[in-house]
Amino acid sequence: MDKLFIKGRSKLKGKVRTSGSKNSVLPIMAACLLTKERSVIKNVPDLSDVRTMVRLLQRLGAKVEFCDRTLIIEPGNYKGDTATYKFVSVMRASVCVLGPLLAKQKTANVSLPGGCVIGPRPVDLHIKGLKALGADIDISHGYLIAKAKQLQGANMYLGGAYGSSVLATGNIMMAATLAKGKTTIENAACEPEVVDLAEMLIKMGAKIKGHKTHTIEIEGVKSLGGASHTTIPDRIEAGTFMIAAAMSSGDVIIEGARADHLGALIDKLKSTGAHINSNTDGIKVKGGRTIKPVDVVTLPFPGFPTDLQAQITAMMCLAKGISIVTEKIYPERFMHISELNRMGADIILEGESAIIKGQRRLMGAPVMASDLRASAALVLAGLVGEGTTEISRIYHLDRGYENIEQKLASLGAKIWREKEK
Ligand code: EPZ
Repeated sequence: MDKLFIKGRSKLKGKVRTSGSKNSVLPIMAACLLTKERSVIKNVPDLSDVRTMVRLLQRLGAKVEFCDRTLIIEPGNYKGDTATYKFVSVMRASVCVLGPLLAKQKTANVSLPGGCVIGPRPVDLHIKGLKALGADIDISHGYLIAKAKQLQGANMYLGGAYGSSVLATGNIMMAATLAKGKTTIENAACEPEVVDLAEMLIKMGAKIKGHKTHTIEIEGVKSLGGASHTTIPDRIEAGTFMIAAAMSSGDVIIEGARADHLGALIDKLKSTGAHINSNTDGIKVKGGRTIKPVDVVTLPFPGFPTDLQAQITAMMCLAKGISIVTEKIYPERFMHISELNRMGADIILEGESAIIKGQRRLMGAPVMASDLRASAALVLAGLVGEGTTEISRIYHLDRGYENIEQKLASLGAKIWREKEK
C-alpha cells in the first residue's frame, strides 16, 4: 500500500484549484439511470469512489466513459437492478442507485451498507421515503429489496434523530421524479450537493421546486431525458485547504471555492483570527498571528459540516487555549483523535465532544489513516508538526482527494508519496 511522507513546519503559499465535488457527482451519476438517453458530466474529480461508481453503473448495464474529468453515461436499455455487497461495502454511497433503479426498473436490490469507522450507516429514512411513495420493501439476506409497479407521489417528513439525510433526500427526490403526482419532502437536506443533484434532474426534465430549502416539491413526469452538467466545486476539499492555510500561517487562494457553500467554516476561521476574503474566483485565506480557540458543533447544512470536523480538530491543537468540538451527525467520528494524540496533541473524548487543549507543538510520527476525513486531519497535522510524518493506508485519502500531494506541494509543502514496493 502507498504511503505519504510529510516534512513539517511548512508555510503554504500560492494558489490551488478545487476539483469537482465527490459528494455531488456520485448521486448525479446515479440519476443518469433514470433515462436511457446519454448524459455528459463535466468537472468530475478522478477519485477511487468515482471509479467505483463507474464500475457499478457498468455492472448494471450502462455504457460509461471517463476521460479528462468528463463522464459520458449511456444507460440505453440497461437491465440491471442490483447493487451488490461488493460495491456497497467498499462505498456506502452506492446506496444512491436505490431510488433511480426502483423508479426506472420497478425493482431494486441494494445491499445494506452496514456500518463503517465513522459509525452506523442506517437507511431507515430511505426506506421510510420509498414506502411513502408506495414501494414494497423487504430486507432479505443483507439486501434491501424494493418493488413498485408505479410509484405514487406523497407528502413525507424525512428528518431523523440526527436531522436531515443527504442521500435519503437524494434517493427520494430521484424516485419521485417518475412517480405519479406530487411529492413533498419536509426536513429535506439542502446541502449544495443536493441542490446540484436537483439542478441536474431539472435539466433532465424533472419538475422540482424548493431544493435550496428544507422543503422540496417534485411533480412526477412520465420520463426523463439525458443532460449535460458541470458539477460544483468540492467544498470539503476547499475547506480542507482553507484550514491547512490558516493553521500553517499560510497565504493561499483556493480557486473555484464558493463562499456560499462554506459560510460556517469561514465564520469559524475568522473567529480563530484568520483573514478570509472571497470573490467569484475563489477564497483567499491568510493565517492569523496566533490561533484563537473556538468551539464547533457539526450540523446539517448550513451548519458546520461533519466532513470538516476532523480537520478543524487538528487545527485547534495549535490554538491558544481550550476548544470543544462536538459531533452531532456521526457521534463516533473521532478515529483521528488517537493518531493526533500520538503526534503530541492533548485531546480527550467526552461522549460526542472532543476537548482539545491547545498550544501543542505537534511532532511528526508514523500514523495510520482510518477513514477519508480523519486521513486529511493527519495530513494537516503533518504539515505543521516537527519532523517527518509517515501516513499509511492512504487509499482512504484517495477516495476523496484528487492529487492531494501534488496540490499541497505546489503550495510549498514538503510532501511526497512512496508507492508500495
Ligand atoms: C453524505 O452521507 C455524505 N456522503 C457524507 O460524506 C457526509 O458526511 C454526510 O452526507 C453528512 O453530511 C455522500 O454524499 C456520498 P446522511 P449520507 O444520510 O447521505 C443518519 C465524506 O466524508 N441517517 O446525511 O450517507 C446518519 O447515520 C462522506 O465525504 C439515519 O439515521 O449521510 C447520520 O447520523 C462521509 N437514517 C445522519 O443521518 C438514514 O436513513 C446524516 O447522514 C440515513 C442517515
